[in-house]
Amino acid sequence: MARYHAPGRVNLIGEHTDYAGGLVLPVAVDRGVTVSCEPAGRIRLRSTADPARIEGFGRSVEALAAELEGLGIPRVGLEGRIESDLPIGAGLASSAALLVAVGLALLDAAGADLDPMGLADACRRAEERAVGVPCGIMDQAVAILAEPGHALLLDCGSLAHRQVPLPAELGLVVVDSRTPRRLAQTGYAARRAELERALAGDLDETTSRRLHHFRSENARVEAAAAALEAGEAEALAAILAAGHASLRDDYEVSTPELDLLVALALDAGAWAARMTGGGFGGAIVALAPQERCPAIAAAVADGYRAATGRVTEPIVARSAGAARRLD
Ligand code: GLA
Repeated sequence: MARYHAPGRVNLIGEHTDYAGGLVLPVAVDRGVTVSCEPAGRIRLRSTADPARIEGFGRSVEALAAELEGLGIPRVGLEGRIESDLPIGAGLASSAALLVAVGLALLDAAGADLDPMGLADACRRAEERAVGVPCGIMDQAVAILAEPGHALLLDCGSLAHRQVPLPAELGLVVVDSRTPRRLAQTGYAARRAELERALAGDLDETTSRRLHHFRSENARVEAAAAALEAGEAEALAAILAAGHASLRDDYEVSTPELDLLVALALDAGAWAARMTGGGFGGAIVALAPQERCPAIAAAVADGYRAATGRVTEPIVARSAGAARRLD
């Protein structure tokens, strides 16, 4: 059996910009989805409990096979299993990792090649078709292009990208708010529609604020990449704080729980923290030296439980490389 692994991601900055051709700065993490399989007559992938909970799991895989066929790649089947050490729905892009890993397996079984962005976009379209969320290209692109020790600076309009070095000691803490995300799909699509109206020149009080977030967030991505390239990671604190405030006030996708988690992480000594991913619930990311991450994770979980009664299990992660065949 061949094995294919694709990583999850956290986005350092550049939120709600990818679907409008803006800038993003995600990092692939050392957790992900692994597919162990061999070619077969049709697709039969069993999964351990967690991947099976990915929304539209079976539909998404079938949609990806159809997307690849539409690109002229012979239709193949796969038999095998899927394992994941990415918590589902915790803001680490588990569904993108699943499709990228399956995509590599399908291409291999078909003896076909596809350029990295072609595969990323096929996975994105498959997820959109299967789940109905008009997501951007960030999650799939970083799963395919990441390098260890680097964030990926990606222009989602031109698809130009470069690797941005991270401080060697950098650790990441991801804390899920564990709040219901019922509004996530409708809210996400609504924000996208509002931003598209703004970019088309239809400006009212609401769309102007959405546009202000988009423009200021793109500038923050450039500032964050420049700070990292200059070895001035301490500058990230103010940049991420401004990004969080913009998502809270101008884009209105944060929640009181996410705001609280950010405050708790900063109180616990994180260098920088903000909500990450689509919002309406979901997770925060905090940046800190690796050796301090476990203590920060514990302090945030304790403080969150004391304030809200909610139990959360933070993930401590480091940067990792791109999706690949393991053996
Ligand atoms: C979700 C989507 C991404 C991106 C973020 C917001 O994670 O999957 O494409 O739009 O929201 O930045």
